Amino acid sequence: MARRKKIYEGKAKILYEGPEPGTIVQYFKDDATAFNAEKKAVIEGKGVLNNRLSEFFMTGLAQIGVPNHFIKRLNMREQLVRSVEIVPLEIIVRNYAAGTMSKRLGIEEGTQLPRPIVEYCYKDDALGDPLVTEEHIAAFGWASQQDMDDILSLALRVNDFLSGVMMAVGIRLVDFKIEVGRVFDGDFHRLIVADEISPDSCRLWDIDTGQKLDKDVFRRDLGDLKDAYTEVARRLGVMPKNAPPVTKPTLIN
Ligand code: CDP
Repeated sequence: MARRKKIYEGKAKILYEGPEPGTIVQYFKDDATAFNAEKKAVIEGKGVLNNRLSEFFMTGLAQIGVPNHFIKRLNMREQLVRSVEIVPLEIIVRNYAAGTMSKRLGIEEGTQLPRPIVEYCYKDDALGDPLVTEEHIAAFGWASQQDMDDILSLALRVNDFLSGVMMAVGIRLVDFKIEVGRVFDGDFHRLIVADEISPDSCRLWDIDTGQKLDKDVFRRDLGDLKDAYTEVARRLGVMPKNAPPVTKPTLIN
């Protein structure tokens, strides 16, 4: 089997060179990390679930005209995506206070915000992804004003889509993070949603019970992370109820 060239290995995914120019194979690992990788574990089957869930969200987004990098799923752990030039920002959208916003501003977790609030963090693990303002982004040239307008519009469209999809299955979308990247067409570029959308990067609470169905289960030792993600997938009809967990990935050539 031909060895593929590894382009990048992150905390939860590995990127390999894709079969065609401009494509990348995104491999979902079972590794879970929190608090900037201070807490680590291997959760068997998490990669399989996130591969399917990210496919589900990205496909739905494409259907309503929100451009994103997803091309097709290749196997249980891998998907083919468009290669992009990642904008070095984590774009966070919040509908309810939680996590760092609650800590920073002293707002009780679960408080509904007056409107969706979009925050930007500079993508740098060594710095712990610090919160930045649009002033920093413009001054340091991380994104242009046009990029920022497009990013805001993409983030709010993803929020409306995900909130609706989740509400339909009794889940509250508290907050989430996306990343965006540039695709080039001659001298022009446009921005598309990249990376992943999964319970690793969202806060998802059961509407009736408040039960957490996202990575906070791992961060805060609230139970079995795999069960929580499986519940999200089951409600969305993404994985057949009794599908056996697949732990041995088949790598493509
Ligand atoms: O997750 P944490 O409390 O550290 O930070 P947050 O700013 O409250 O996170 C807001 C949302 O963005 C949560 O759904 C996180 O899971 C997500 N996030 C992420 O996926 N990756 C990061 N590096 C930071 C936040």
